[in-house]
Amino acid sequence: MAENKTPNDSDAAFGVPHHVAIIMDGNGRWASQRGLPRAEGHRRGVEALRRTVRAAGEIGVKVLTIFSFSSENWSRPRQEILDLMGLLRRFIRHDLAELHASGVRVKIVGEREGLETEIRRLLDEAEELTKDNPGLLLVVAFNYGSRDEIVRATRRIAEDIAAGRIKPEDINSAMIGQHLDTAGIEDPDLIIRTSGEQRLSNFLLWQAAYSEFVFVQVYWPEFDKAALESAIAEYHRRERRFGGLAARTGS
Ligand code: FPP
Repeated sequence: MAENKTPNDSDAAFGVPHHVAIIMDGNGRWASQRGLPRAEGHRRGVEALRRTVRAAGEIGVKVLTIFSFSSENWSRPRQEILDLMGLLRRFIRHDLAELHASGVRVKIVGEREGLETEIRRLLDEAEELTKDNPGLLLVVAFNYGSRDEIVRATRRIAEDIAAGRIKPEDINSAMIGQHLDTAGIEDPDLIIRTSGEQRLSNFLLWQAAYSEFVFVQVYWPEFDKAALESAIAEYHRRERRFGGLAARTGS
């Protein structure tokens, strides 16, 4: 089925997952296995990211979320953090024009407070430049941790209560969703993690309530359109019930 999809096919016609989220894991192991520095794994990871953004658009995915730097990644060696920040800067500086030209809208989720001024400026610029684009929504989770996101949302709701703007009984799951960084973005249908690891690592904990998970063996630098199509084919074999009963049998 994946071969038949084009950018213009509707989600409904071909069952393309509307929102795909990816934990891009295994850059370091890919590099170590080849006797290369970890930075080379991350550099090749950016190439895989470029391929995947293009492929997602071609397949007809509408929202692609990528986990590019977690709030826990600060515990890595200083040099590796500098390498990752350098790659983000280069990705935005070199790829933003092309993303914009191809109609991609960029949205950043994660904590901006405390980030270097230049990084914040680049993140703001990426969002501002592309905000009216009609194509793929590329959500970049940067300095992102799901628990941190939920804590920040909870604080804002508590402030609204303290200020008398809402009452405790007004809180429901929709309101919590509206206070998360991902407000207004549909929950992911499919979450892919590369490298064979099978965990969420503090990624989209709230949003993943009914997501399908596909864990693929390849390391992130090897990920390509065929790997994305194969993960989507696996998604098609799943039956999503959202807590209800099976559609075909009613059992
Ligand atoms: C996991 O590999 C990957 C990351 C921590 C970062 C992902 C970053 C990129 C793909 C490149 C940067 C892209 C942008 C837009 C900043 P790992 O280092 O955890 O691999 P390992 O588990 O094998 O050590």
